Amino acid sequence: MSERRIFEHPILDFDRGYEFYFDFEGKKIKAYEGETIASALYADGLRKFTESKKLERPRGFFCAIGKCSSCLMSVDGRPNIRTCVTLAEEGMEVERHGPKAEFPQTDVGRGGERKKEEIEIAVIGGGPAGLMASIVAARNGSEVHLFDEGDDLGGQLVKQTHQFFGSHQEDAGTRGIDIGKELLEEARDVGVEIHNGSKVLGYYPEKKITIESDGRLEIYDSQGIVYAGGAVENYLSFENNDLPGVYGAGGVQTLMNEEGIVPGEKVLMIGSGNVGLIVGYQLLQAGVNVVEIIEALPEIGGYQVHASKIRRAGVPIRASHTIKKAIGDEKVEGAVVQKIDENWNPVKGTEREVECDVICLAVGLSPDTGFLRQADCEMDYVPELGGFVPLRTEDMMTTQRGIYVAGDAAGIEEATVAALEGKIAGAAIYEELHEETEDTRRSKEEAKEGLDKMRKGPYGEVPKQGVKTCTVDEEVCG
Ligand SMILES: Cc1cc2nc3c(=O)[nH]c(=O)nc-3n(C[C@H](O)[C@H](O)[C@H](O)COP(=O)(O)OP(=O)(O)OC[C@H]3O[C@@H](n4cnc5c(N)ncnc54)[C@H](O)[C@@H]3O)c2cc1C
Ligand code: FES
Repeated sequence: MSERRIFEHPILDFDRGYEFYFDFEGKKIKAYEGETIASALYADGLRKFTESKKLERPRGFFCAIGKCSSCLMSVDGRPNIRTCVTLAEEGMEVERHGPKAEFPQTDVGRGGERKKEEIEIAVIGGGPAGLMASIVAARNGSEVHLFDEGDDLGGQLVKQTHQFFGSHQEDAGTRGIDIGKELLEEARDVGVEIHNGSKVLGYYPEKKITIESDGRLEIYDSQGIVYAGGAVENYLSFENNDLPGVYGAGGVQTLMNEEGIVPGEKVLMIGSGNVGLIVGYQLLQAGVNVVEIIEALPEIGGYQVHASKIRRAGVPIRASHTIKKAIGDEKVEGAVVQKIDENWNPVKGTEREVECDVICLAVGLSPDTGFLRQADCEMDYVPELGGFVPLRTEDMMTTQRGIYVAGDAAGIEEATVAALEGKIAGAAIYEELHEETEDTRRSKEEAKEGLDKMRKGPYGEVPKQGVKTCTVDEEVCG
């Protein structure tokens, strides 16, 4: 496959803008307006983005959303740039650095003087949780600044081409991308100040945050914060799991649905939860061969409706199977899979080679809570919510007064839950800084009722228990 960019798609329209070139280690690389450096390099066929420090093994990208370190390169002399979230620019010079980066031969910041500003509310993360929190606080009159490191707001929604499985009456059946667009429009309408391309680097007392935006350091001194930074993808341990070609499902989705670039020709999908099934189907829609889906549990984890679509397309889903190793030296050239018994022990004699150039890991997400730890929010390990989560009140305030949390960062559930939690956090932070209004009271009431509905039934019972474990009374908050 020479051209890896998708030009025809049953749902998405990749309307590529201006075409230009940049330099990569002496080679001219084609890119289109709005493409990241990593995407343009991937489309050109590059697989080795960096190498491991000690063993100097090749590494490809993994998450494609700026949350790991697999794509760090030197850009115009600045080392350690996450190329998966940095837009390509005409004439820029990009190169891989060795295991140890050299001291930069340029001014680190290229944006000139630092900017410092006092603001009322900082919302971190522009997914459904952050957008909804911003909308509620802003429509009641707060001055809200919403920061997102990405170029497009909407979080995970911007790559969800499927009709949503959420049970929220307004969202079920709507495509994720459309929900994201609607929320963004509403946020703009109520006057939320949107800062895209703005990565929050750290927290400093008292509610000061530092932001990196276009190479410039910015400091915001806020009165209240809603953290809605989402989740990170889980990894899986198997031989050669660091080879280029082993990618997270979200990374594959970003490359394919946001950037319009196919990840490979033959994909082995690990995990049959909704994410594995949905990304598997989206790969088929993009014309990629999904060779099989394997699942360690004795039965399929996701909804039958998604599994049936995959099976109708002729893709086998094999339960009680795991991956033993990836085959290849410089990149994935195949995989060995095998059966496991009810105690997850390998069944001898069932090893089998699978031909593939991509191994896609859809093995769950963990809440991204680094910022909250920095802010000294008390955490607890809650397996029902995907890992360590902050303790929070029913109004989504963490144990640090004035710092709220919502969405996947508070526990892995669904986009509808993220939006409902955002609604509560947005109303509650407004009340804390001002007073209760008819709108904040109603918003909290409706959202709490919505969450109760979402957490009913066999799928809802698990997160419900998790939320119970980490909910605290307001007196605990400092
Ligand atoms: C393949 C797939 C299919 C899914 N399908 C469904 C579905 O059908 N129905 C459903 O309800 N849910 C679905 N989900 C889940 C849903 O997308 C997430 O639960 C939801 O997006 C979480 O919202 P959020 O706002 O908490 O986080 P996100 O949507 O992840 O948004 C977080 C935002 O924070 C930004 N950010 C993170 N760190 C920083 C930082 N340091 N500085 C600045 N910005 C930062 C990110 O750029 C991102 O935009 C699916 C998820 C996947 C991966
Ligand atoms: S940070 Fe770029 S691939 Fe993970």
